[in-house]
Amino acid sequence: MDGFEALRGRHLGAIAAAADEAALEEARLAAVGKKGEVALMMRELGQMAPEERKTAGPALNALRDEIEAALKARRAALGDAALEERLRAEWLDVSLPGRPRRRGTIHPVSQVMEECAAIFGAMGFAVAEGPQVETDWFNFDALNIAPEHPARQEHDTFFLHRDAADPRPPHVLRTHTSPVQIRAMQAQGAPIRVIAPGRVYRMDMDQTHTPMFHQIEGLAIDRNVSMANLKWVLEEFFSAYFGAPVRTRFRASHFPFTEPSAEVDIQCSWQGGQLRVGEGDGWLEVLGSGMVHPNVLRAGGIDPDLWQGFAFGMGIDRMAMLKYGIPDLRAFFESDVRWLGHYGFAALEVPTLHG
Ligand code: DAH
Repeated sequence: MDGFEALRGRHLGAIAAAADEAALEEARLAAVGKKGEVALMMRELGQMAPEERKTAGPALNALRDEIEAALKARRAALGDAALEERLRAEWLDVSLPGRPRRRGTIHPVSQVMEECAAIFGAMGFAVAEGPQVETDWFNFDALNIAPEHPARQEHDTFFLHRDAADPRPPHVLRTHTSPVQIRAMQAQGAPIRVIAPGRVYRMDMDQTHTPMFHQIEGLAIDRNVSMANLKWVLEEFFSAYFGAPVRTRFRASHFPFTEPSAEVDIQCSWQGGQLRVGEGDGWLEVLGSGMVHPNVLRAGGIDPDLWQGFAFGMGIDRMAMLKYGIPDLRAFFESDVRWLGHYGFAALEVPTLHG
């Protein structure tokens, strides 16, 4: 019986000590596998004397059952431990904030165009568009710019190359957004209220000029729209754009497409070499404007005896520089990612009027 107890202790011990599935299988084979110790002893029962078999038989059966039960329990325990280990190893905190990825930014010019669209949109202006490659009729003639006008000279305008035999009308890179006035009037008729932001091109390149830049055009035509409406709309716009009341000053000027014409300055101060809009008694010229010339209304298909209105054109790049303190115009178009990262806007910062 001592031998039997030792046998039992050895096998149950080996099962309990099995650290993984392989060790457990080894312990099973050693005990109750075909050539296992307990299995062999059971096979020897046949050669025993009946008296001996009477005690050894049930004892061996009980031991085999006990071993099977121990194997099962150990297998379950190893499975639980493996699961625990996996849960521990694969643990992850889903509440951690995401790792920030470097994203592109919205260019200040795009941002300012959106801001303008939001402000003028609240005043009932829709956004109109036109092509950047424009016929010289839309860019000049329709805007009452005479053929001998200096703006048409080669040194200002990019003309598209064209053979003398080419039947197509001459094209230019539009020198201002004003031709969109004509396209919008032709498309919509009167009354109309639109702004047209976009790229324009001039053969000009120095500290404060780039051959491509941006303008925003405004046009409002109705039965009795006046210069007073123009002044209100512009002051309302500048105040919303700069976030503080901004006074304007109108100076008589001349544009072929308006009569009368005015250049508009906004109030600013230059104290300490710092330009501040909306305070002080200095003035900064920011746009051209006026009452739309009857010839321009006619080119747009609108009867100047029934309708009248105002138009204005303003540089967007400088508006962005003024509001966001950007010192150098040329950097706008160099695509330096450091500059874009610094002055650019997050894609989700969509401008709104209340914003
Ligand atoms: N087109 C002019 C320019 O490029 C700006 C301008 C002046 C636009 C007067 C207008 C306007 O609509 O009425 O300099």
